[in-house]
Order: sequence, then C-alpha cells, then structure tokens
Amino acid sequence: MFEDIKDNNIYKNLYDGQWVSSASNNFITINSPINEEEVGKIQAMTGEEVDKVVSKAQSSFGIWADKPVSERADIIHKAAAILEENSEEIANILTKEIAKDIKSARSEVIRTVDFIRFTADEGKRIQGETLQGDGFHGFSKNKLAFVTREPVGVVLAISPFNYPVNLSASKIAPALMAGNSVVFKPPTQGSISALYLAKVFQAAGLPSGVLNTITGKGSEIGDYIIKHKEIDLINFTGSSEVGRHISEVTTMVPSIMELGGKDAAIVLEDADLEHAANNIVKGAFSYSGQRCTALKRVLVLENIADQLVDIITEYVSQLKVGNPFDDVTITPLINNKAADFVQGLIDDAIEKGATLKIGNKREGNLLYPTVFDNVTTHMRIAWEEPFGPVLPIIRVKNIDEAVEIANASEYGLQSSIFTNDIDDAFHIARLLEVGTVQINNKTERGPDHFPFLGVKSSGMGTQGIRYSIEAMSRPKAIVVNLRERSDKVGQVK
Ligand code: NAP
Ligand code: G3P
Repeated sequence: MFEDIKDNNIYKNLYDGQWVSSASNNFITINSPINEEEVGKIQAMTGEEVDKVVSKAQSSFGIWADKPVSERADIIHKAAAILEENSEEIANILTKEIAKDIKSARSEVIRTVDFIRFTADEGKRIQGETLQGDGFHGFSKNKLAFVTREPVGVVLAISPFNYPVNLSASKIAPALMAGNSVVFKPPTQGSISALYLAKVFQAAGLPSGVLNTITGKGSEIGDYIIKHKEIDLINFTGSSEVGRHISEVTTMVPSIMELGGKDAAIVLEDADLEHAANNIVKGAFSYSGQRCTALKRVLVLENIADQLVDIITEYVSQLKVGNPFDDVTITPLINNKAADFVQGLIDDAIEKGATLKIGNKREGNLLYPTVFDNVTTHMRIAWEEPFGPVLPIIRVKNIDEAVEIANASEYGLQSSIFTNDIDDAFHIARLLEVGTVQINNKTERGPDHFPFLGVKSSGMGTQGIRYSIEAMSRPKAIVVNLRERSDKVGQVK
C-alpha cells in the first residue's frame, strides 16, 4: 500500500490527496545513523509549494469541518486499523531511520494505534454545553448560551526526530478529530517514517487536501512555513531553542509547544532504592536518553547516596549496547553532532572533578551509558539537556536543597520523587515547577490521555488526548435572548 509515496526511493509529499514530487529537484538524503546506509531521499520543497499546500489546506478545511463527528471518527478509527496492519513494516523503517531499538520502535507504532483509536472515541465524547444567564447577577434565564466547539482551521504540525510516528500522530489525529485540516512538517531525520503515517491517514479515506505534508530542512524552509499568514495554529514539539524562535517570529498565532526537559529524580532516605534505581536507569537510558522526558539528573539525599550510586552503576553495567535490530537498549545517537554535544558535557564534568562511575566510551555516534557521581552545580551536565545516555548524580543535604536545585533549572517538564512517605511526596510535588510529578515512577509522557505539559522553557499549552482536541478547537457561543414575558400564565408550579 505504500508504493505511491516514493519513486526510485525518492519520497514524495501528500498534496490534495495525491503524492507529488517537488519542482525544486532538490533532494535531502536520509542516511541511517546505524551504518550511514541510505534509507531514502526526501524533497526540499520551495516557498511557492508551501504557499500551495497551506492554501489547499485552508480551502479543504470546510469540507472536513462540516463532516459529522461520527464520520470523522470512523475515518480516524480506520487509520488506526491500517497502521496496526502495517506496524511491523513501519517499525523497521523507524529503526533504520532513527536507530531506535526495534522493541521500542514496535511499541511506538502500537502505542500510536491506541492513541489514534482513543482520540476517535474521545472526539465523539467532547460536546459543548448550554449555559443559562441567571447564574450571574443581573441576567435572566431567558439568556441562553449554546456553546459548541469549533475547529480553528489550518493546524501546522511540526514534530521531532525522536518519535516521528507517535509525536506526529499525537498532533494530527486530535487536530483532525476537532475538524481542522493539517499541514504536516515532519523532522528531516524521521521524515520517511512520518510519510508512511501520512499515507495511513490518506488511505483511511481523508478527503483530499485535509492532510498535506511539507518536507525540507527546518533551518531552510521552516521560517517560511511558520510565518505563513494562512496558518491558524502551530503545534510544535522539539527543542526549546527552536520553540522559543518560533514564538518570537510568529505573532498572534496560537501555539502549543512541547519542548526540552531536564527531568530530575529526587530520592529520599526512606525510598526503596532497588525500585528507585531500576526506574532511574530505565528513565535515563531508554532510547539512549533521546527522550524529552528522560531522567536527566538525580538529586539524592547524601546519607543514602553511596548505596543508590552503587545499585545504579550495577544496573547500567548490565545495559546492552549495539545494533538497534538486536535486543539492546543503547543504540547509536541520531548523528555525530549530537554525540559530540554529549561528549562535550562528559568532558566538562570530568574536567571539573565529577566521579566517573561507568562509561565515557565512544564509537562514532554510539556512546556507551555513562554515570557521574559527585556532580556539582558548576558543571554543564547539571543543567544542560544531553539528549544522550549520560546521567549526573548530585548529592544534596536535605529536601529543601533538592527542591532548590530542581527548580533552578530553566526547564520544567516532569520530575520523579522516590519515597514511601506520601506526605513528603505531596509536599515536594507541590513545590516543584514542572508540568507533571511522578511519585515512585520514572518520568514519562503516557498514558496518553493524561495531561502532558511543560512549564518554563519546557513548553506552552497542554497535550494529552482530550486536552489536545480542546487545545486545537475553541468554544463558540450562540446566545439566544428569549423575550421577557409580562404575563405569568403557566407559571411553573
Ligand atoms: P528540533 O531541532 O527543535 O526540531 C524539531 C522540529 O522542528 C523538526 O521537525 C525540525 O525540522 C523543525 N524545525 C527546525 N527549525 C525550524 C524552524 N525554524 N521553523 C519550523 N520548524 C523548524 O528538535 P529535535 O532535535 O528534532 O528533537 C529533540 C528536541 O526535542 C529535544 O530538545 C527534546 O527535548 C525535544 N522534545 C520535546 C518533546 C516534548 O514532548 N516535550 C518531545 C520530543 C522531543 P528539521 O528536522 O528539518 O530540522
Ligand atoms: O520525547 C518524547 C516524549 O514525548 C516522551 O514520551 O512516552 O517516552 O515519555 P515518553
């Protein structure tokens, strides 16, 4: 079913229900981070083509918005079924294109099937409301507001390399369910996997022009797209640097931003250290740490630090490293530039006296899992987002110091607290400047109907299925003002 999305391993774009080639004749080769093998080529689209795509989405929006919600849901459900049927093929492309271990790639695709299904059902449940005026002083019950939810129009969906299928569908499905049309700009590295997802939605019966794709480097065509006057809402997931840039150059365009993180795990004296260490290692090193919700620092009370560090180091020493098609956890990073950045943080920590417990071994863009103890707040690793397999451990004297260091970060995505004392847990959770606090669990986005948000440099707006549908729609009130009657005939008993 995917024959028409590429020609000669050159991937096309979905425009007005057709898979078309760009007139630019300018291609970007996608090489696998595993072995530099060519996965395929994508097209670098031009500004004119972007204009056509956005206008097509604008002109197609009405057809889709007028469709009964139940029919929209049927098509979205069909997309989930088609994705499920083709999950193994798409998982294999994911692993090749972004070096995500095959087990995680499979779960990303299946998670996306569940996400799309839940979105179709939730979209049918989101109804408007009716309000009566007399709840507010000076107004009567003859003023009735019928509040419905309206689509915003054309949603620009921009997704990051680390979840090109799931973090694309987490925008596209809710946007479509709310009645919007979508212009989809996938990450360059990840575009091919994402175009397969676009094909799945098309094959499910979306009317032409309701979903259109734009491929090309964000650094080249990105600004042209985000500044386009016919874009009604931007739903972006990516780095805080690009997110901040987008909000700086776009005025009066509603935006939802899911950005970077520096999630902390706070470990108290009474914590179950085996459980904490197990969650911390999974949270820090799955997909080689290339997750916004990866645990990126540990703040541990100093009198239990030795034990925790030993257990973590032991668990990390058991992590398998290698080719993502094998049963491993640590795989090559997305590119050498990313690996250089992580290595820079490692070198800085060593230079400034951190204790290397394990790791600091590199083969090209494959970095072995690294753990540092005795990390101080003078080290870059204490503050910067590595997006790689390195974990800094900071020893703290007490809860106050842990909260102070946690909140001193520019980021505010999630945090974990490990303790058996629920009072301490809630006390700390209330103090932490983050979107979500996990008690006795690693930081993670799912389950996908929970609210997912970042504060400070970690984002704007809230996602999570119902939250996303509501964020990409708006209330509309139709207020009926019934005539005040003088005759009291038929007064209600
Ligand atoms: P990125 O470099 O910010 O890129 C994200 C997306 O933005 C890509 O599609 C990129 O296209 C595009 N882009 C770049 N410049 C643009 C511009 N000027 N205008 C419009 N689009 C532009 O992030 P990444 O490296 O793909 O992902 C890693 C980062 O994302 C990390 O910081 C991570 O924490 C964050 N992230 C956050 C979440 C979350 O939910 N909070 C989830 C995942 C990742 P190109 O690929 O063509 O450059
Ligand atoms: O970085 C992707 C982000 O959305 C994390 O998702 O489920 O890995 O916590 P998850």
